[in-house]
Amino acid sequence: MDGQRRRAMAARWLWPLLLGIAGLGGVLQVHGQVDNLGFINLDCGLPESAAGYVDGVTKLRFTSDAGFIDAGTNYNMSSEYITPTMGRSWHNVRSFGGGAGTRSCYTLQSLVAGLKYLIRAKFWYGNYDGLDRAPVFDLHVGVNYWTTVNISNANTPVIYEIIAVVPGESVQVCLVNTGSGTPFISALDLRPLKNGLYPMANATQGLVLHTRANFGRDDGVILRYPNDPHDRFWIPMSKRAEWTEVSTAKKVQNIDDDSFDAPSAVMQTAITPVNSSSPVVFSWDAEPSANNPDPGYICILHFSELQPLPVNAVRQFYVTLNGQLWLGKGFTPQYLYTNAVFSSFPNNGHHQYNVSLNATANSTLPPILNALEIFSVLPTTGITTATQDVSAIAAIRGKYQVKKNWMGDPCVPKNFAWKGLGCSYAVSSPPSVTGLNLSSSGLSGNLSSSFAGLKGLQYLDLSRNNLTGSIPDTFLQLSSLTLLDLTDNLLSGSIPPGLVKRTQDGSLTLRYGNNPNLCSSGNYCQPPQKKRGSMVAVYVVVPIVAVLVILLLSVLLFCMRRRRQGRTSGNIKQLDEVSIMGHNSLRLDNRRFTYSELEAITNGFERVIGKGGFGKVYHGSLEDGTQVAVKLRSESSDQGEQEFLAEAQTLAKIHHKNLVSLIGYCKDMKYMALVYEYMSEGALDEHLRGKDNTMRTLTWRQRLRISLESAQGLEYLHKGCNPPLVHRDVKTSNILLNANLEAKIADFGLLKAFKSKSDTHVSTARVVGTLGYLDPEYHGTFQLTNKSDVFSFGVVLLELVTGQRHILSDPEPTSIVQWVRQRLARGNIEDVVDARMRGDHDVNSVWKIADTALKCTAQRPGERPTMTDVVAVLHECLELEAAHDNVNAGFYTPGSGGSLNDYGQYNSGMSTDLSHRSTAYEQGHLGSVSILSTGPAVR
Ligand SMILES: *[C@@H]1O[C@H](CO)[C@@H](O)[C@H](O)[C@H]1NC(C)=O
Ligand SMILES: *[C@@H]1O[C@H](CO)[C@@H](O)[C@H](O)[C@H]1NC(C)=O
Ligand SMILES: *[C@@H]1O[C@H](CO)[C@@H](O)[C@H](O)[C@H]1NC(C)=O
Ligand SMILES: *[C@@H]1O[C@H](CO)[C@@H](O)[C@H](O)[C@H]1NC(C)=O
Ligand SMILES: *[C@@H]1O[C@H](CO)[C@@H](O)[C@H](O)[C@H]1NC(C)=O
Ligand SMILES: *[C@@H]1O[C@H](CO)[C@@H](O)[C@H](O)[C@H]1NC(C)=O
Repeated sequence: MDGQRRRAMAARWLWPLLLGIAGLGGVLQVHGQVDNLGFINLDCGLPESAAGYVDGVTKLRFTSDAGFIDAGTNYNMSSEYITPTMGRSWHNVRSFGGGAGTRSCYTLQSLVAGLKYLIRAKFWYGNYDGLDRAPVFDLHVGVNYWTTVNISNANTPVIYEIIAVVPGESVQVCLVNTGSGTPFISALDLRPLKNGLYPMANATQGLVLHTRANFGRDDGVILRYPNDPHDRFWIPMSKRAEWTEVSTAKKVQNIDDDSFDAPSAVMQTAITPVNSSSPVVFSWDAEPSANNPDPGYICILHFSELQPLPVNAVRQFYVTLNGQLWLGKGFTPQYLYTNAVFSSFPNNGHHQYNVSLNATANSTLPPILNALEIFSVLPTTGITTATQDVSAIAAIRGKYQVKKNWMGDPCVPKNFAWKGLGCSYAVSSPPSVTGLNLSSSGLSGNLSSSFAGLKGLQYLDLSRNNLTGSIPDTFLQLSSLTLLDLTDNLLSGSIPPGLVKRTQDGSLTLRYGNNPNLCSSGNYCQPPQKKRGSMVAVYVVVPIVAVLVILLLSVLLFCMRRRRQGRTSGNIKQLDEVSIMGHNSLRLDNRRFTYSELEAITNGFERVIGKGGFGKVYHGSLEDGTQVAVKLRSESSDQGEQEFLAEAQTLAKIHHKNLVSLIGYCKDMKYMALVYEYMSEGALDEHLRGKDNTMRTLTWRQRLRISLESAQGLEYLHKGCNPPLVHRDVKTSNILLNANLEAKIADFGLLKAFKSKSDTHVSTARVVGTLGYLDPEYHGTFQLTNKSDVFSFGVVLLELVTGQRHILSDPEPTSIVQWVRQRLARGNIEDVVDARMRGDHDVNSVWKIADTALKCTAQRPGERPTMTDVVAVLHECLELEAAHDNVNAGFYTPGSGGSLNDYGQYNSGMSTDLSHRSTAYEQGHLGSVSILSTGPAVR
């Protein structure tokens, strides 16, 4: 066959269909009624209010697509394109504005997971938008790219079909705006297929239809349902001069377990060459695309002998593909039975595929061809979000009518993950939802138990909605949850004790402010009407001198548990006292030490591990071997007494995983001391400076964790304490690390509480804090707000990113804030990143942190984020980093207490001798610029 003719033929085999309007109109042959076939026939763009209708041709019932998709606008095809013979489903379309990158998805439900379906999407532009510009966009099926829809002509219907195994009980068909016009769709069909059909379509590959042709039929009739019970479209191939048609009126049977079920009506006609010595030849061109540069093709040839052959007659032929024998021997079709010759594996690597059917030497009759199908093979290996997460989030979306572009798979593909969702993409398990931010999303109603279906959830932000009812116990099933924000809702009842317990052990940060009817503790909740009782001052001013004596009492009066802000009822206060006593996890057992006991546990104050204006800090060991740090107030220091007492008073009441905790105290005549948990790895600044040669440099991941942990400690002071507290001396030397490198904030000597909720700042008569970390506003106002801590924390973040000191001395003293700003202005993050990390970091997360740090250090406090905002960013960055590493097990879970695997190596290289650290501490302050001596870091 000459090249010219082959090309001409290839052109005629084009699919999508290039049909005349009549082609899909009234000339389809139909009989019978639709029965319960499991078909879905959507007329896209048909108004929701419109009743469905029965298609005059197929007798299949079409319905509006409104219940299958949340997005899009209905349009009618431009009237000049509408003709009387055109099927009704073409008249209107649904169109999806929203710009490049928008994904709009239909969800076809009630399917059977693991079964095979034929899905067909139909498009007829018809200038519905009056723009006369036919678009190009992508189609996805589930999480997999399916095809690119290229509408080249307003007056041509285009149809795409895929046969695929559906992994879940629903499948999504998504239209993706790729920046070349607005996606639209006219109709969408789904047909169930028996699993034995099309064995090449399996869980990992789908078949995208290229051509499905019926031979020997010259009347232009497309055979489909009900001739084909599977409603495939069999397109008639017009007769060519070199062919002659053969047909039979007798039924052509399918063989047992037929893999293709070619319908009798299709098989009853065929072509055969006029010149009996000629082969039957056809070809198609490969259609590579960016998504599939070398598509593999599967070709299925359907044969049946239609004539009873005389005894001596033989019809036998070879089938060759690109010159290669496809079957090893000659093939003879059976009389009135369907046979198929097909490739089980895709053919690829060619620009053009040529198939020829040549008679064998023994054959007395030329080859015959009844029908054929050509598919390209589509990998469907995209892994969907874990099924239970998909059902849970779908239930949440449904219950709250979430008004977001929440369509398609929640997490996949990554670049289309739903807004407000955090996902983890592990290698070993399907993507799962780890974060959900539905803040300010107009939610109302009660808290759905479906949240508990998101088993891997680490943060859940439902703040600023109108949620009502109580917090269900099912939330306790969220064992990975580290942050639950319920602020600003209308919740009532009491917080489940299990959640309270988790906030107390530090594994959960729970925010629930501004829920007027929510009680914070246990089951001791007042009936609402009693809450309007007498106004009694909640807080009792504790005389400073007596503080150590009444530590225990103050716990009761100065409830520091995460209480809802703004509550002033005396009744509630008392109830809190009662319930807190009921919580034995609260440390009411701060031990009181005598001076001689302290002498014993410190081995005669032998080992100094820190030093400051208050005196020295000594290493000690309790009777049971627990290591402690003993901070002894020096007799000569009277200046620090107030701060010393403040620290004692506060620490007795606040407990958080990321705040160094108080174990006991000593008030023995003139001696005052505080006993803390021992932080064996010392202060963060030492790790950043790498002063000790045996220290390993902190990795970026470790730095992120440390920042998150310290940020959580600070956030607790600002938000979890009532009244809120300002640390006032946040710096890297006040962030201590334990043996697992978990960070805790230390040194509460300057900690100060706001007097009341309405106060937003603390005025100080004396200058506090540390130069270089100090809020620039402070110099003007002598007022410190929690935004001052944010400023200092920004400096800490910059130190973590750069590894530099908070004040650089080379060539002249410059603050790190200045230094980073200047360099980042040039746009190169690597300019400022600590080179000791050897580039082992995700540039995006470093940028994010540097950016956050600069926001924290904004000149004007109002422009700085809150610690809550900072915690959220850090959470996100750790997730980014985890995704970057593809290590699910490495996800940050504060409850897990630090993984030894993460740190083991680090620890092994570290010095545990801390005796020389006090000198470094003093140097770290640039020659004692802190005007008020700030006390040593506690270890
Ligand atoms: C489309 O046309 C129908 C009748 O032909 C009309 O009822 C309907 O309002 C039109 N819809 C739009 C979106 O123009
Ligand atoms: C769409 O089809 C037209 C004509 O068939 C072709 O020129 C164009 O390159 C195609 N566009 C894409 C994005 O495939
Ligand atoms: C699907 O079929 C292809 C080709 O026959 C095969 O390589 C693949 O392993 C099959 N996948 C499954 C899940 O059976
Ligand atoms: C089949 O026919 C084609 C076209 O005439 C020819 O090129 C090819 O060699 C033949 N193959 C066999 C196996 O006879
Ligand atoms: C052709 O017929 C002869 C005699 O019947 C047989 O031996 C030979 O195998 C046949 N060839 C083919 C290709 O079937
Ligand atoms: C809560 O509901 C009220 C009344 O329906 C509405 O005005 C308000 O905007 C809602 N608030 C939020 C945060 O959705």
